[in-house]
Amino acid sequence: MASLKHYLNSVIGEAMAEATQSESCNANVITSSKPGFGDYQANGIMSEAKRHGMKPRDLAERVIISLEQSLPSLIDRLEIGGPGFINIFLSDREIRTRATLAIQEPDLLIPPAEDPIRVAVDYSSPNLAKEMHVGHLRGTIIGDAIVRVLERRGHTVIRQNHVGDWGTQFGMLITYMKEAVGADNDLPNALADLESFYRDAKQRFDDDPVFAENARLSVVKLQGGDEDYLNAWEMFIDESLRHCEAVYEALDVTLTRNDLDAESRYNDDLSVIIDDLEKTGLLAESKGAKCVFLPEFTGKDGEPLPLIVQKSDGGYLYSTTDLAAIRLRRKMSIQRALYVVDARQSLHFQQVFAVARAAGFSNQDLSLEHVSYGTMMGKDGRPFKTRSGDTVKLAELLEEAKQRAYDLVTEKNPTLPDSQRREIAERVGIGAVKYADLSKNRTSDYIFDWSTMLSFEGNTAPYLLYAYARIKSILKKAPEGNYDAIQNLSEPEERALCLKMLQLGEIIEAVDRDCMPNQLCNYLYELSGLFMKFYENCPILKAESSQAESRLALCRLTAETLQQGLELLGITPLEQM
Ligand code: ARG
Repeated sequence: MASLKHYLNSVIGEAMAEATQSESCNANVITSSKPGFGDYQANGIMSEAKRHGMKPRDLAERVIISLEQSLPSLIDRLEIGGPGFINIFLSDREIRTRATLAIQEPDLLIPPAEDPIRVAVDYSSPNLAKEMHVGHLRGTIIGDAIVRVLERRGHTVIRQNHVGDWGTQFGMLITYMKEAVGADNDLPNALADLESFYRDAKQRFDDDPVFAENARLSVVKLQGGDEDYLNAWEMFIDESLRHCEAVYEALDVTLTRNDLDAESRYNDDLSVIIDDLEKTGLLAESKGAKCVFLPEFTGKDGEPLPLIVQKSDGGYLYSTTDLAAIRLRRKMSIQRALYVVDARQSLHFQQVFAVARAAGFSNQDLSLEHVSYGTMMGKDGRPFKTRSGDTVKLAELLEEAKQRAYDLVTEKNPTLPDSQRREIAERVGIGAVKYADLSKNRTSDYIFDWSTMLSFEGNTAPYLLYAYARIKSILKKAPEGNYDAIQNLSEPEERALCLKMLQLGEIIEAVDRDCMPNQLCNYLYELSGLFMKFYENCPILKAESSQAESRLALCRLTAETLQQGLELLGITPLEQM
């Protein structure tokens, strides 16, 4: 069962192609902007008519006449609208049939991709020298929602946590670790606070030239494969990853150690990348550094902008690793590579992608996409910091979320047993943090504000979780029964709700294509709003028996749709709140 939009696009597109005697036409079907215009409208008539030298209304008329010869059961009637749209009115009976099928087979709500592909998603990707901080929150949450959606669509998803685990700072950290941890060897304790460990190491590095020299030597030893240094480095990385994993667990994020695609993995490829760039003639030297200049990248004054791939001291850069990683993705037959990374790195990715194509490391078969997101701001409109101006550690932020949610739940529901309040608080608190982020257009900067995200009103996690729990409680009150058929849609609120649920599939298609989870959030919010209208206007348990059964079936499908949508966002709803 294709999504409604997908299906309408194909039948109307085919009729248009026939009427214009062309190979294919884009029907450009969208949900209607006004109720009087039907459920959907085909907006593609205008541009296709123009393309074929026809009058839009004539084309619309021909398409309608041809479709009416054997009208698909989904369509009740078609009308010409305005200067040449086609307004599409769907059949109630078919809406009921499809919804009933979906109750019996909930997987039908989300049709799989027609051409499943292999997709790599680079997300979270913290630097292991330090603690995860709020700068990693958005990428981790957005990336995880995207991988869940892609997997649900049937794509093969390769998660890639491109952690920063290589480079000069690790020389400093290992040297300091050897010195500080010393005899008692209590590494977890010494590294309990990575942030201050890093700060102390840096202090030593700046203050003591002998230490600094040792640190530099450590890097050389490490990169030369010295076993002792490699062991120390591994111990450090392992401990730092444990910190990340605690955050992933708290956030219910699907990344595991198997998903690591660490920078160090590419160490041996970096010199090869330079050689290959040399061979393709792309490499240039500028102030002793090796660079690639592409004509499409220029600075403010029109001067050429380089992508530096090797520093004058021989060291490699972030860009070199990214080029090596692209090449590996090609070898892995990946067809789409997504980089869920801060918008401030967008020039970096544009350059890396362009150089990869120019050098033949990538080609048309691999789509490279920077899924960028804006900065997380405080309520004052500045980058989010602690009161003293430090970066906020993620682990602490999530603790605060749970505590705030706990206070809220306790206020609303003081009589619930404490363990239950804790459980609810965890879902609500973490869900609120995730949802607040996911519900905004990711490309804009985003204001982190506890009071809006924890509000029970508006487009928030608490609102949706509460709506879900409320539907569940209605279902619990109903007498034993199957409730697996929508028997009629007599009230407009019933029809609107039912149709909305059949639209989850096309929303998921859009998220697959555009990587904008806020489309799913908006959808779930609208769905909950339609449910509330239905609930206010249509008696459920008090209705006469077949009416009640049909409405309970609608409740069931609403709960199912909300649950599937929330789970794709990485939020598990609660039965009771
Ligand atoms: N580790 C980098 C950082 O903290 C992000 C890496 C993103 N992924 C990539 N392939 N460059 O900024």
